[in-house]
Amino acid sequence: MNPKYRKIFEPIKIGNMTVKNRIEISPAAPRLASSDSLVSPELIEWTRELAKGGAGIVTVGISQVTPPNPAFTGYTVNMSHDRVVPGLSVLADTIHRYGAKASIELAGFAFGHNMPEGMSPIDVMSQEQIDTWIKLFTDGAERALKAGMDMIMLHGGHGILISNFFSPLFNHRTDKYGGSLQNRARFACELLDSICTRVGNRLAIEFRLSASELVTGGIELDETIEFIKIIEDKIDLVHVSAGLLLDDAIAPFVTQPAYIKRGYNVHFAAEVKKAGLKIPVATVGSIDMDLASDIIERGDADICAMIRTAIADPYAVDKARTGREDEIRPCIRCVLCLNRTHGNEGIRAACSVNPKAGRELELKHEPLPAKVKKKVVVIGGGPAGMEAARTAADRGHEVILFEKSEKLGGTLNLAVSPDFKADLKEYLKWAIRMTSRHPNITLRLATEATPERILAEKPDSLVIAVGAQASIPPIPGLDGKNAVWVGDVESGKARTGNTIVIAGGGLTGCETALDLARKGKKVTVIEMVTEKQMIQVSPNPMNALLQLLRKEGVEVLPETKLIRAGENHAYVQSSGGEQEIPFDTLIISLGVKPRLQEVAKFNNLVNDVRIIGDCSVNRGTLYTATTDGFNAALDI
Ligand SMILES: Cc1cc2nc3c(=O)[nH]c(=O)nc-3n(C[C@H](O)[C@H](O)[C@H](O)COP(=O)(O)O)c2cc1C
Ligand code: SF4
Repeated sequence: MNPKYRKIFEPIKIGNMTVKNRIEISPAAPRLASSDSLVSPELIEWTRELAKGGAGIVTVGISQVTPPNPAFTGYTVNMSHDRVVPGLSVLADTIHRYGAKASIELAGFAFGHNMPEGMSPIDVMSQEQIDTWIKLFTDGAERALKAGMDMIMLHGGHGILISNFFSPLFNHRTDKYGGSLQNRARFACELLDSICTRVGNRLAIEFRLSASELVTGGIELDETIEFIKIIEDKIDLVHVSAGLLLDDAIAPFVTQPAYIKRGYNVHFAAEVKKAGLKIPVATVGSIDMDLASDIIERGDADICAMIRTAIADPYAVDKARTGREDEIRPCIRCVLCLNRTHGNEGIRAACSVNPKAGRELELKHEPLPAKVKKKVVVIGGGPAGMEAARTAADRGHEVILFEKSEKLGGTLNLAVSPDFKADLKEYLKWAIRMTSRHPNITLRLATEATPERILAEKPDSLVIAVGAQASIPPIPGLDGKNAVWVGDVESGKARTGNTIVIAGGGLTGCETALDLARKGKKVTVIEMVTEKQMIQVSPNPMNALLQLLRKEGVEVLPETKLIRAGENHAYVQSSGGEQEIPFDTLIISLGVKPRLQEVAKFNNLVNDVRIIGDCSVNRGTLYTATTDGFNAALDI
């Protein structure tokens, strides 16, 4: 046992059960259930990884208690029919196999159409409908019990049904369910009583809530604490989150991107703890193993829930327990996972740093030891090249990695300097550490790959990961003396004046704007597409980023096209006509393009060549880089 995390591994009693440690896998629906909302082999393998990784509690993600609505519930577990029980029992057994407790999140959504202004769906709910909801939840709880689950988590936060009743923002009823907090808590109390009557103390109950809905008129901490006191005799664990999902501006505070501080809800949990409850308190929100240790040591919460730490590295808990914490692959809080599962696409979870995430069934036994040991040369030590090198080396191949600069990391080295890129910096350090110390990898740093050098190594397989370069469109003036490429600004190679125009409002342009604005510069961002389209690229972080930019006084001009640049003016066109914007420095952030000429130098050198990462796609991301690197190495 690693003494550093001693407190985390102290068992805790929740209701009638003893949990082996203080880490709970927070609910996440990875969209891996079957299309008819039953447990699938894919979901079982996703869950197995989380349980095997060492957490004390594994919570199955949002599982609705109402009959499936294909437009909304697809590929998540549905608890409204007994058909769910057999599959769910396999899931419970899988979790138990690794000594964890099995829990499932039950939830419902109140939908209303053509609601009068200022009213919410629960305002018009009849007593009969309320009773039906209570029955649906109670039936769902009983099915969880039948399947062998140890606990249910009732979703009473983030603006969905149960919370709507006790939130003053949503509840405008004037009957016994509205008005005073006692009345607004009535629905939760009746629901909990009904569940307790049906399942007794054979199932523990965790209640998830938003300590603050983070909007004017929403529930606030003081009232939340009073609410918890009303229900505490009916539950076994309270789970403190914050925010609302229904509000795009607030949603990033539920699953915080890298620009928002870690441990976002801990201060709320600490206040709840101070209220002297009889039940333990869990908290959640950008918690990694080190932070969890601090939280438990300080007594700010009794349990730390986390999901992204575990998606990025399912074995994080066990690595911490066994003194291998430097091997934990850090989550960069890019929120790709949630943008996929909860965004417009509603597709399976995936991860920028863990290429197996969401593919646990397909890759269950990968990476397999190679049948024939080969010599693999990788050109390029960026994230794709490093991933390919490590995976090939893990399989037993002998790997030579060429990197022309003095250190590994490629373009990631450019991006990590702002404070809000601390998570990415940790990942970069991890990737370099794990690559550098792998016994099967030989590094050739500060060594430019040439066809002669590559052939001299006599490789069986060649992996080309030479990355991308700036894409500068043919707009007049972009070669002017005050125009610089965003990558050179990020790396510190290019200096900037005080008044800055950034051409290109993608994530890179906006992050650079935030960094410069925080350094006291006056920044304007111009972007051709609409604000909605800007957000669509990566909704969760972009929603947060745009709010932060406005707070820092950055002017963001969507639907504005750069026509030409003078020495100190950008000439732009928008629906309001032509306009000139002064600058000391014009930063060009208009994307990158694959380094095809570099690729062409090598791609016929040997029979087995794989081209991966940014040099193989337009608009590559860290996700495409690591996935490509991993996939390529599996097939060598
Ligand atoms: C991919 C993904 C899926 C999620 N699905 C759910 C869900 O089904 N139910 C829920 O209450 N929260 C869900 N969440 C929110 C998490 O449970 C958690 O509250 C939030 O992400 C903050 O924790 P973290 O920083 O450890 O990710 C999801 C989060 C992610 C990243
Ligand atoms: S996709 Fe990004 S936010 Fe999600 S777990 Fe992976 S690294 Fe973390």
